[in-house]
Amino acid sequence: MSQQNTDEQTTSEQDAGDGGSPDPTDDEMLIQTDVSESVDETSGTRRRETVVRAEHVDVWYDDNQALSDITMEIPEQSVTAMVGPSGCGKSTFLRCINRMNDLIDSARVEGDLYLRGKNVYDDDVDPVALRRRVGMVFQKPNPFPKSIYDNVTYGLEIQDKGGDYDEIVERSLKRAALWDEVNDQLDESGLELSGGQQQRLCIARAIAPDPEVLLMDEPASALDPVATSQIEDLIEELARDYTVVIVTHNMQQAARISDQTAVFLTGGELVEFDDTQKIFENPESQRVEDYITGKFG
Ligand SMILES: Nc1ncnc2c1ncn2[C@@H]1O[C@H](COP(=O)(O)OP(=O)(O)OP(=O)(O)O)[C@@H](O)[C@H]1O
Ligand SMILES: [Mg+2]
Repeated sequence: MSQQNTDEQTTSEQDAGDGGSPDPTDDEMLIQTDVSESVDETSGTRRRETVVRAEHVDVWYDDNQALSDITMEIPEQSVTAMVGPSGCGKSTFLRCINRMNDLIDSARVEGDLYLRGKNVYDDDVDPVALRRRVGMVFQKPNPFPKSIYDNVTYGLEIQDKGGDYDEIVERSLKRAALWDEVNDQLDESGLELSGGQQQRLCIARAIAPDPEVLLMDEPASALDPVATSQIEDLIEELARDYTVVIVTHNMQQAARISDQTAVFLTGGELVEFDDTQKIFENPESQRVEDYITGKFG
């Protein structure tokens, strides 16, 4: 990944999930938050409600089309992996969900994208309120040059959210599997942590405002195997409470941790989206099989 891209991402995050203008109340988004589950009467298995639904989404950067006619439904409390070759639009799609493409002047999004039934591109949706509900973690850990404590509370401060910060910090760091390692050094800089700890700190920061969806763009690709394994365990744990959408170039990782997998291919096309096991063991598309087995991409 180029430095330029990394810088853009860092700036974007500061502008986005954790930053921005004082937020409106959730009411202003008028998004229904019924999370009731239903049970399929024939099989008795639990059917997960759709959290994010894309319908015929196209994205353009000036004259270059990055995504073409994407239609998909992402179910709650599960891990959805997005895989595909470089440049096929995975990051672009993640940024559609929390409207971070708004921050890119040349980007134009067409089609409809719903969060729990409410179109996030409607005029009455405030992007800052949206990003509180749809948190994001990036490839390169990007803690702010602040204490560990202040990193975790950053999003709450910016959004002027009340609550018991000590309790939220402890809970978020525990959920991010970092508490035991840092609870006696909360006043120390987040930048002094190891790369894997920094990424878990960024996850704690992203979940502190208690989002519904957590977008993760290659969150473990800059980490060593031990830290990667910790992040993978954590993602599975987080999916009990959150809807996790993760971009990864690591096929084994996608197979290990995700419930469903979306395969994007060159041209910004969603070629196949299905249960992870089906995608990896018996995909419908020959192109997907070739990609998964490493014949191209
Ligand atoms: N900020 C931008 N301005 C202009 N074009 C962009 C921008 N971001 C992405 N693109 C273009 O959109 C297409 C999709 O890019 P995107 O970053 O979404 O791909 P990706 O699948 O995430 O790739 P990678 O695996 O390398 O991260 C590419 O052709 C890319 O050059
Ligand atoms: Mg990307």
